[in-house]
Amino acid sequence: MDLKDPASYTDLSQGKIQHIDFHINVDFSTRTFDIEAMYQLQEPVNGSLFLDSFKIDLKEARTNGNSLEWEFDPEDEILGQRLHLKGFEGQSTFTLVFHTSPEARALQWLNPSQTVGGKHPFLFSQCQAIHARSIFPCQDSPSVRFTYSAEVEVPQELVAAMAAELIEVQEGKWTTFVFKMPQPIPSYLFALAVGNLAFQELGPRTGVYAEPETIAAAAWEFAENETKIVEAEKLLGPYLWGRYDLLVLPPSFPYGGMENPRLTFLTPTAILGTRGHTSLITHELAHAWTGNLVTNATWQDFWLNEGWTTYAETRITEILEGTDSKDLHLAFNEKQLIAIMERVGMNSPQTCLKLPNEKDVDSFATSIPYYKGCFFLQECEYAVGRERFDEFIQNYMASFQFQSLTTEAFLDFLKAELPEVFEKVDVHKWIYEPALPEEWHRPKSYLFDEVQQALKDYEKGIKPTKEQIQNWHRYQVLSFLQGLPKKISAEDCQYFDAILELEKRNDVAFFSFFYVICIMSGYEAILPRLEQFMGRIGRMLYVLPIVRAMIETDWSRDKVRPLFERVRDRHHQITVNAMEGLLKKAGL
Ligand code: BES
Ligand code: ZN
Repeated sequence: MDLKDPASYTDLSQGKIQHIDFHINVDFSTRTFDIEAMYQLQEPVNGSLFLDSFKIDLKEARTNGNSLEWEFDPEDEILGQRLHLKGFEGQSTFTLVFHTSPEARALQWLNPSQTVGGKHPFLFSQCQAIHARSIFPCQDSPSVRFTYSAEVEVPQELVAAMAAELIEVQEGKWTTFVFKMPQPIPSYLFALAVGNLAFQELGPRTGVYAEPETIAAAAWEFAENETKIVEAEKLLGPYLWGRYDLLVLPPSFPYGGMENPRLTFLTPTAILGTRGHTSLITHELAHAWTGNLVTNATWQDFWLNEGWTTYAETRITEILEGTDSKDLHLAFNEKQLIAIMERVGMNSPQTCLKLPNEKDVDSFATSIPYYKGCFFLQECEYAVGRERFDEFIQNYMASFQFQSLTTEAFLDFLKAELPEVFEKVDVHKWIYEPALPEEWHRPKSYLFDEVQQALKDYEKGIKPTKEQIQNWHRYQVLSFLQGLPKKISAEDCQYFDAILELEKRNDVAFFSFFYVICIMSGYEAILPRLEQFMGRIGRMLYVLPIVRAMIETDWSRDKVRPLFERVRDRHHQITVNAMEGLLKKAGL
């Protein structure tokens, strides 16, 4: 297949990486990795091989004992540099020796003060979408899958965790952790973290890594993970990755969760003390099938990962929390979807499920593929009934396991398996046209309606009471904040702060929605709390709306760049780039 991935220099006609053996030394003093990597190719290669790379300091390239010639092309700000390995004569292995850069985009090196314990440094990677190339030269396209092994040397007192199977730990001057990933993965699922980590078992195949100070709270919060896997397996088929562990990261982690195989990377803000944020885990777990087992071939097909996962998440939520809770989630999601579509422009190509050819995939990713993709799959389910759609899901997973596919390959499969879908659903419109079709099964939720009533009352001057909202579901509170007018009075900001008990609940999603309202409403007294939030929380879903609101509002516009400069060192490169992008676009 001649597949063009605009976010990668990969040329599949040259050959494909099949396996990599890594030897990695993690050096906190220089904030670099020292790596020797032996690559095995699927077939012998003749001539050239192009790899993606980002600020890699290559020391040596050799094949079968002979050195290989290489050349780096000029750097592209987004894609990095094409590494051109030259002069292969039918070899199918080669070795590269290199250092990563302290500016490697995938890596965040944290000072001890940025951890809970405060005594040890911390490092973690985030490769999705196109940052694996800043750790090692590779065909950094989700259409290429490889297995790997890794020996990771870390300072004696620290622990290395990888999204792979831990084989053994060797003590010495450095501690060496030996891992193996026997299932083929795309490069964006390569993941490593190093820090003062404790581990606790949760169930026969589940456990959690966290700093010792948080391990007990984490183990309590996620105690139900084993049950989740059992439910997920009923929907999606057998779990093929062996273990499912979690790794709780420091709060600067740019995402809520990242579905690294066998080891979901997680924001610590998911620990609410209530087990109330487990839909996040359900989402990352579902990716073990939709995303990790069956993968989007390019980032234009991102909805195949995220739309399918959001759909699976709602199905599992329905089983674990009931229909009322699922319906509420969906109604909230629909409102969010429309709000984001309005922000990017209803006719923007960003609102299509198949995304346009764009190399800057990080700044192009929104939640649209999540929600719109989920609603499209629901329409397919309605068209054929749940029973047949469930059979289709199992069949889809089994047919494409450990493969990557395009939207078009998915549609071919759908047409062959469930042709009636195409009679009842305007598939072309859902996939290739912007915004949403006129007619579809829009979510209905009485819990959501209850909140809409409270919002209507508020507009008439009747404020909800503390008693009224005390027993609201988390998503009802979110829906309330989502539905408040953009501008309210300063007194009302204070009132909602108090009755929603925002400080006590300590839920970053609530803070984010609330701070946006405060900014838009000109409630300047919120600034110190805002600054504290921005210096601590890295989850982009909740941080970027605040930056946008500050940019759009007159009183805060000239405060946002200085605020960003004060907190930038505390954030991951990915977050810094995203914030910088918003500021630059606004001319700030
Ligand atoms: N795979 C994504 C995170 C991601 C997306 C990383 C695009 C890099 C590029 C992950 O599964 C995800 O969607 N996380 C969400 C939470 C989820 C519950 C919607 C997040 O981090 O906000
Ligand atoms: Zn996801």
